[in-house]
Amino acid sequence: MEGIDLTSVIRSKAGTQIDLKNPIMIASGTFGYDGYGRGVTPQMPLQDLGAVIPKTVTRVEREGNPEPRWFPTSFREARDAKDSIYLNSIGLANPGIEHAMAVMAPEWAAWDATVVLSMSADSSPEFGEMARMTKGVNGFDAIELNLSCPNIEDGAMFSHSPSLARAATEAVRSETDRPLFVKLAPNVPDITEIVRAVENGGADAITLCNTIPAMAWDHVSGRPVLGGITGGLSGPALKAVALALVYRASTVTDIPIIGVGGIFSAIDVVEFLMAGAVAVQVGSANLANLSAPFQIKDELLTLMHEREWNSIVDIKSHAKEQEQMHV
Ligand SMILES: Cc1cc2nc3c(=O)[nH]c(=O)nc-3n(C[C@H](O)[C@H](O)[C@H](O)COP(=O)(O)O)c2cc1C
Repeated sequence: MEGIDLTSVIRSKAGTQIDLKNPIMIASGTFGYDGYGRGVTPQMPLQDLGAVIPKTVTRVEREGNPEPRWFPTSFREARDAKDSIYLNSIGLANPGIEHAMAVMAPEWAAWDATVVLSMSADSSPEFGEMARMTKGVNGFDAIELNLSCPNIEDGAMFSHSPSLARAATEAVRSETDRPLFVKLAPNVPDITEIVRAVENGGADAITLCNTIPAMAWDHVSGRPVLGGITGGLSGPALKAVALALVYRASTVTDIPIIGVGGIFSAIDVVEFLMAGAVAVQVGSANLANLSAPFQIKDELLTLMHEREWNSIVDIKSHAKEQEQMHV
C-alpha cells in the first residue's frame, strides 16, 4: 500500500541495530511445525516479515516433554472452533547451541530474513558462555533471551527474580554487540521490577510475554491431559494478560517493547501497538495456519489505509490523542 511506512528500528546499546520492515515477527517455538521452519514453503516470504525467531536453543540438546504435548490436539481446529484455551507442553526440545551455530545458522543466513536467535540457559555463567559461542557466527541479527527457565543453583525462574533476570542479561550483554531482546514471563506480581532489572542489565528490548503455566484435566481418564502434567497457556486467553503487561512495562521504560500473546488479526496488532509495543510476535495463530503472519501483515496495511494511518507512530499518536481527550 503506497505511502504506508511500517518500519522501525531496534538499537543495541553496543552500537548495532536491526531494521524491522514491519512490526510482525514469528514467535519462538511456533515457526513451522517443529519450531525451526518445518512446513514453511517458498510461498511464505520470510524476508517480508519483521523477524523470525526459531525455537529456543539451550547449551546441550534437550528432548522436551513426554506426549501428549498439545491441548487441543489441533490448533487449527481450536481456531476454527473459536476456542480461547491453547495449551502445549513441548518443553525446550532442541538440538543444542553447537548444532544451531554449525548447521542451522548457515541455513538461516540463506533466507535473507531478519532472524533472532532465542536462547535459554541453566545459570548466568552458562548464558554468558552461550553468548560467547555466537561470536563471529552469521545467520542471525539479534538475540532473544528466554528467561522462562529455572536457574539450576536454586531452582528459581530467571524471569521471576529481578536479580537473576538482570544477571542473565548482563552475562549475555557483556558477550554480544547484537541487539538483545529479553523475553519475560507473565506470572509475576510486578512486571515493572523485572523490566527495570533487565533494562539495567543491558537489554535493548523487552518481549512480553511467554506462556502462563496451565493445565487441562480429563475427567474420563481421571488424568491430566498433557504428558508434562502442566503446560503453557497461549492463544486468545493470553491476549488480555499480555496487553496489560505491555502497558505496564511501557510506563517504566523507553526501550522497545515487543508484544506477544493471542495475536490472530491486524486489530490485535493495533491494540498492542496502542498499548505501548513497537512490534509484535505471532505464535499460536501461526500453528493454526503457517500463513497467518503474512495475512496479518497484509490485513494491517489494509486497516491502516482505511484508518488513514501512515506509520506505527500514527497508530500510537491516535491512542495518545484519545487518552488526552479522556483525562
Ligand atoms: C508450541 C509452542 C512452543 C513454544 N516454544 C517456545 C520457545 O521455545 N521459546 C520461547 O521463548 N517461547 C516459546 N513459546 C511461547 C511463544 O513464543 C509465545 O510467547 C506464546 O505462545 C504467546 O503467544 P501466542 O498466544 O501468540 O501463542 C512457545 C509457544 C508454543 C505455543
